[in-house]
Amino acid sequence: VSAKQPYRTGYHFQPPKNWINDPNGIMVYKGVYHLFYQYNPKGAVWGNIVWAHSTSKDLVNWTPHEAAIYPSQPSDINGCWSGSATILPGGKPAILYTGIDPLNRQVQNLAIPKNLSDPYLREWIKSAKNPLMQPTAQNHINASSFRDPTTAWLGPDKQWRVIVGSKVNRQGLAILFKSKDFVNWVQSKTPLDSAKNIGMWECPDFFPVLVKGRNGVDTSINGPYVKHVLKVSLDDTRHDIYTIGSYDNVKDVYTPDKGSIESYSSVRYDYGKYYASKTFFDNVKNRRILMGWINESSSVADDIKKGWSGVHAIPRKIWLDGSGKQLVQWPVPEIQKLRANHVSFANKTLRGGSVIEISNVNAAQADVDVSFEIADLEKAEVLKPSWTNAQLLCSRKGALVKGRLGPFGLLVLASDDLKENTAVFFRIFKRQNKHVVLICSDQSRSSLNQDNDKTPYGAFLDVDIQHQKLSLRSLIDHSIVESFCGGGKVCITSRVYPTLAINKAAHLYAFNNGTQAIKISKLNAWSMKTAKIN
Ligand code: FRU
Repeated sequence: VSAKQPYRTGYHFQPPKNWINDPNGIMVYKGVYHLFYQYNPKGAVWGNIVWAHSTSKDLVNWTPHEAAIYPSQPSDINGCWSGSATILPGGKPAILYTGIDPLNRQVQNLAIPKNLSDPYLREWIKSAKNPLMQPTAQNHINASSFRDPTTAWLGPDKQWRVIVGSKVNRQGLAILFKSKDFVNWVQSKTPLDSAKNIGMWECPDFFPVLVKGRNGVDTSINGPYVKHVLKVSLDDTRHDIYTIGSYDNVKDVYTPDKGSIESYSSVRYDYGKYYASKTFFDNVKNRRILMGWINESSSVADDIKKGWSGVHAIPRKIWLDGSGKQLVQWPVPEIQKLRANHVSFANKTLRGGSVIEISNVNAAQADVDVSFEIADLEKAEVLKPSWTNAQLLCSRKGALVKGRLGPFGLLVLASDDLKENTAVFFRIFKRQNKHVVLICSDQSRSSLNQDNDKTPYGAFLDVDIQHQKLSLRSLIDHSIVESFCGGGKVCITSRVYPTLAINKAAHLYAFNNGTQAIKISKLNAWSMKTAKIN
């Protein structure tokens, strides 16, 4: 990462230049991982969208290929927008994607590989029958809100099902289509799900997760041993939110669990910058992997100046938490092969008001995993009943606001004088006889450049701290801090643009700004080697 381009990443996915957004059509084929993505070949802002294409053997190092899908027929002449891959019987991939037609209507198209013996699937042929799904006077589908088909799944009647994101006025919709041959699609009478007063549902994703264990299952699997997840990307708030529920694949009815997110507003994959994600089933390693887009928090002028915008998050393995109420996410273990310069210590007390440096790692490009222990939980401050909005609480009680149990955690991408730093930290409160853990990614002092969005992020973490340690893993990569708290129950991704804390001038610290001492039970940190990306 050069001095001229201090915000480029060492191991997060990005092309050499220009704008990127959503991951598309992710799959594994003949042992090769395929990632397509929304890309503007002509600049650092959104537009001229094609499907750029990279492949990988390990989800860490990526080889670029020519654009796989680009405007070439009337049904996509004004853009090739997001979509997904489905593996058809016989192991044949098929891609459904949104095309923008000559009238700027959103329609759904099919593309299949030209040569199935090419593991890199470099060439794609579009169906002559495109578009396969389109807004008509009869179906009342909104032509400017009809996009992003999911991976399709097979029902007991041997028919394929797919959902497409949409809206009617302010009602978000997952419109369901069925097909016997993957070409002729019939719209179902009712959407798979919908919610009032929420706005457009972009990039839906619908998949089963095992009730027990961490393995993934194929998208068509159903039974008493799985739950289903419906995730949507809310255009209004720019958050990826999900419900967990049951799916009756005979009646095609999806019922979110009670106590899951009835309101479609609270449970998120990530409480920072993370959008338009989707999962795929990796049948080589029997896991489900989530990939998402992390956009910039800088100004458009700065994006144009640096010549690029957008990166992808580290692929995350995803499974159902034992509570059945939420998902757990963890960076794929392959990323660990980039680790070098191991630094480790245990049982270190952090007195109130202390800051200790973690040296001998490349603090601009690192993986840090730390767990904390609290001796006297009784000292926790009382959580006021009105403090229900975690993000707001993180804004009011940033890293500099002293508390009792916390704030404690990490100062990352920090300058030596701490003028610049991103604080990822915990605060522990009590409410009646329960403890409440707040986790914040406070980037309000991340850069001297005022031209960035530096709003702190935060979430409540559902852990039993009487019996469990508090853990935090942060993947630091120049302008990205991707944090996994409580073993992956809460993820928060920040984009930051330090002006001092760049490359060798970046530092890493552990801190405790509470009055009570806490203990670092274990800290492991590594420099991360640079991956070969595109
Ligand atoms: C989400 C999205 C999708 C659309 C694509 C266009 O970021 O807006 O809904 O298909 O990006 O690039």
